[in-house]
Amino acid sequence: MSRERAKLVVGNWKMHGRIDVNAGLLTEVAAGASALQNDVYVGVCVPFPYVGQAQALLSGSVVRWGVQDVSAHAHGAYTGEVAADMATDFGSTYAIVGHSERRAYHFEGPELIAEKARRALDAGLTPIVCVGETLEERDEGLTQEVIATQLDAVLTVLTEEQAARIVIAYEPVWAIGTGQSATAAQAQEVHAFLRGKLAAKGASVANVLILYGGSVKPENAQELFGQQDIDGGLIGGASLKSKDFLAICQAAQTVLQKAA
Ligand code: 13P
Repeated sequence: MSRERAKLVVGNWKMHGRIDVNAGLLTEVAAGASALQNDVYVGVCVPFPYVGQAQALLSGSVVRWGVQDVSAHAHGAYTGEVAADMATDFGSTYAIVGHSERRAYHFEGPELIAEKARRALDAGLTPIVCVGETLEERDEGLTQEVIATQLDAVLTVLTEEQAARIVIAYEPVWAIGTGQSATAAQAQEVHAFLRGKLAAKGASVANVLILYGGSVKPENAQELFGQQDIDGGLIGGASLKSKDFLAICQAAQTVLQKAA
């Protein structure tokens, strides 16, 4: 997938959904996404118990699915953990790792997150590695330092070939679930910085997709996705409503059409 001609929109359902509600949402998203051109890639990352349901309802559609976390361990006596290759048993493509909610509420540190990314890659999953600063860190002028530390921890443990297979999501913590997205200019500035860091790892890594996440809505998606280094979005709340999620996917389509 060349980032000049592709956008990726992934829903992160977080801990939402029940089997009956999911059925409607997945079916609607699959139907709506079928109208998109091939260069808009769509995914949903669902809670673990529903990965099989996503597989059943999305197989044969253009929508891919995945999980919101994986264990840093391959297998073994790790009660409550889910191994990356268990997710691939159910056809998963994506695994979010290092979401700020896991960093904050489950005390996940940079080394653990890097190990999760490596496990995901080993299993054949595409890790969506989340980075982002808190409001306090931004106010103190530490944004670049914080996200550089978060990204470097992951890049250090990966070969260039592995690093070229990840996806990054820039999610400023202050924009998540607050209704207050970063402005397109604020997001682009950080994405450009991330792009530079990726390029330093190797030419093939420079083209890794960098998604923006944090209060993406149908109303702001087009402006965000129109920025040079914003390759799509990681969508929380709006991914739970098929109409909104599909409108965001459509915004990605519109941006590509305008650029053509
Ligand atoms: P919201 O879109 O609800 O702000 O969540 C963003 C997010 O955390 C996606 O991973």
